[in-house]
Amino acid sequence: MKIWAHRGCSLRYPENTLLAFEKAANLDGLEGIELDVQMSKDGGLVIIHDEQLDRTTDGTGFVKDYTLSELKKFHIKTINNELSETIPTLNEVMELLQKKRVKLNIELKNSKVMYHGMEEKIINVINKYGFEDRVVYSSFYAKSLEQIRKLLPKAEIGILDTKASDCIYKMNGKCGANAIHPYAGAIDLDRKDLEDINVRAWLTEDLYPEKQTGKVIEIRKLEEAGITDVFLNEPEMYL
Ligand code: G3P
Ligand code: CA
Repeated sequence: MKIWAHRGCSLRYPENTLLAFEKAANLDGLEGIELDVQMSKDGGLVIIHDEQLDRTTDGTGFVKDYTLSELKKFHIKTINNELSETIPTLNEVMELLQKKRVKLNIELKNSKVMYHGMEEKIINVINKYGFEDRVVYSSFYAKSLEQIRKLLPKAEIGILDTKASDCIYKMNGKCGANAIHPYAGAIDLDRKDLEDINVRAWLTEDLYPEKQTGKVIEIRKLEEAGITDVFLNEPEMYL
């Protein structure tokens, strides 16, 4: 089973921050880091899960309504109000990961807000840092993946959905995906139907700064269901 850090090490540290990514990049045996990309008003690529700033930062409103320099003035919320982390840009993440060996799963968060030209902008950054062979692109928005495939014929692409069968259905359409990223609790196909497919599954686990439930994920059961990779908020626990 390959283990990925979901939004970085997002149970012990604030999600989608350089701190959470650095902690993940230093873990022995980690396959890669998953992160979420949205776009500022002036086309800056920023790493934040929600379309709105309110849950994870001291800002309010939509990411798309602020310029990059305005977004950089907000701070990531922490338990003790040490507000030193800001919303990272994709470039900053690449600077951090340049000398590390981990892979990157870039989730394009463009299924609720349409970010025009986001695919090309992301690919340009990845090419600039020579990361082409270390990136998996994913999205719930199949049309966006189709665009990635057009721009980058050799890209590794995973289609996101809840049920494994819906992922397969979309993968066989025009989106150009060569892997599926279903919810780990919605593997509604037999293991034999998933043979030879990269099945990277996600879960809905506790996130910083939630109170930890102490729930332990049974990795072996996921493997038996045909899952090849799993995105975890606390990869430290399982590696
Ligand atoms: O890539 C899997 C997972 O990240 C999708 O859900 O909401 O955590 O972005 P979410
Ligand atoms: Ca994600």
